[in-house]
Amino acid sequence: MLHHPKTATPDHPIHDLIANRWSPYAFDERPVEQEKLQSCLEAARWAASSFNEQPWSFIVARRESQTSFSTMLECLADANQAWAARAGVLMLTIAARLFSKNGKPNRTAEHDVGLAIGNLSIQATSLGLAVHQMAGVDLSKARQVYSIPESHDPLTVVAIGYTAARGEDRQFAERDLAPRSRKPLREFVFTDAWGTPDI
Ligand SMILES: Cc1cc2nc3c(=O)[nH]c(=O)nc-3n(C[C@H](O)[C@H](O)[C@H](O)COP(=O)(O)O)c2cc1C
Repeated sequence: MLHHPKTATPDHPIHDLIANRWSPYAFDERPVEQEKLQSCLEAARWAASSFNEQPWSFIVARRESQTSFSTMLECLADANQAWAARAGVLMLTIAARLFSKNGKPNRTAEHDVGLAIGNLSIQATSLGLAVHQMAGVDLSKARQVYSIPESHDPLTVVAIGYTAARGEDRQFAERDLAPRSRKPLREFVFTDAWGTPDI
């Protein structure tokens, strides 16, 4: 297993790809190959979803297309622009609010977009890429800039790219070297009643 300072330290065995996924700040500016991006999107496509609605849509901005890239970058919160400017790809995620077959609200749409991005993140890790998701996005600006209809909600932007060599970008070294931490299972896995640990 490939170990780096950000590799998870799991209490129970997990797949290497899950252990090695992490959210970097220091990207290098290398573009993401089209075939790799397509594989990441294909992995998202095969996620499970309620009634197989596949409520996700994505708007992709590659750094090679400067105007397209800066348009999406400018939808991000300033603190995110500071590092996401170096990612190879920025991608806005969008959820369809209603089921296509009956027009009723799809209450798991956001959940299902999250599953798709989970798949995408793992596929990206397997291809030597990293993904950093962002809630810090001006969503009303994104809706306007991309003419997203009321039937759909923009949710997040994900940065996809290659991480910079360790320590190369000093500005982010502290965050990018800090160990990853998680709550223990007993704090969120219950049995019989809320708060009663199962494990
Ligand atoms: C939906 C979502 C939104 C996030 N928003 C931001 C963000 O706006 N800015 C940021 O720097 N990181 C953001 N993150 C990254 C998280 O801070 C990061 O995933 C978390 O600290 C765990 O670190 P890890 O992904 O390296 O395990 C976001 C992550 C997710 C899943």
